[in-house]
Amino acid sequence: QTVEKGRFQWSAPSNIALVKYWGKKENQIPANPSISFTLKNCKTITSLSFSKIEKRENFSFDLLFEGKPKESFRPKIQKFLERVEVYLPFLKDYHFTIDTQNTFPHSSGIASSASGMAALAVNFMSLEKLLNSGMTDEYFNQKASFLARLGSGSACRSVKGEVVIWGNHQETKNSSDLFGVEFSMLHSNFKNYQDTILLVDKGEKQVSSTLGHDLMNGHPFAEKRFEQAHNNLSKIKTILANGDLNEFVNLVESEALTLHAMMMTSMPYFILMKPNTLEIINKIWKFREATSIPVCFTLDAGANVHVLYPENVSVEVLQFIKNELVVHCQNEQYICDEIGKGAMCL
Ligand code: PMV
Repeated sequence: QTVEKGRFQWSAPSNIALVKYWGKKENQIPANPSISFTLKNCKTITSLSFSKIEKRENFSFDLLFEGKPKESFRPKIQKFLERVEVYLPFLKDYHFTIDTQNTFPHSSGIASSASGMAALAVNFMSLEKLLNSGMTDEYFNQKASFLARLGSGSACRSVKGEVVIWGNHQETKNSSDLFGVEFSMLHSNFKNYQDTILLVDKGEKQVSSTLGHDLMNGHPFAEKRFEQAHNNLSKIKTILANGDLNEFVNLVESEALTLHAMMMTSMPYFILMKPNTLEIINKIWKFREATSIPVCFTLDAGANVHVLYPENVSVEVLQFIKNELVVHCQNEQYICDEIGKGAMCL
């Protein structure tokens, strides 16, 4: 079928890993499997307009950010298109206008690569679906996740499902290094699980994730870490299925600190936490001890803190965050988020 022109618009959320992906091989293959909560409010909204042209030598596209031209995105998008071209052979038959915006504040230290690449991937899949009618939803989602991975590894966990596993894992049927798969056994204790993101340091990332993953090559603790991630994934699947919140807290915090420990013990070495990150962690521990409320933290490759807790204690925890933690945030900024379902066609 030939399609002359059209437009799609999708939103895709960010995600927060519980068992972290850190270290990768050629072709965006993860060194260990990971699992994440899909977020709901932190997302990228991307529209893809396309019009048929004579086949070109090079990709033809314009880039807009919040409706205005944004040339600084060009190298990233160019690289993405080069990587996915073999899987989307129509790319050079169209001129594209890609218009993107994020729901979270610009330069908030929240990486937009997962949500951004997932949003781009589902848009291109929509065009493929239009050209090849009869595509199943399962194929659509799997290939969208596969393409998103080629843009940014963790983006493959932002396409479909509340909890997503990415990476070969012996105990997870259908798991793959090539795309994310949904974990469907989530206990009701995790329903609408909350993630309040405390913006401790909104600056540019000190260590890009590309460099970060590279640091695991030849890292003295790499093999043990990869083994641990496999074991932790097995454990957390049980925890997520049986709803044990105390075990959840222990495993998730240990994973976050291990990610940072890997960075502290690599060569070169980095400390990505800030004094305020530690202040927040200590206060969370005190609050948890005093109240027995199962609130915990996790971290990305930066200083911001994700505070995770069940929906039924959100009044108490939000009060605690406002009273005690917000002073440690840059400009007192934080973002309230929770588990979401993945990308949506708008
Ligand atoms: O997807 P990347 O290459 O930006 O790597 C993300 C790495 C972490 O966010 C630190 C961990 C994870 O599993 O998301």
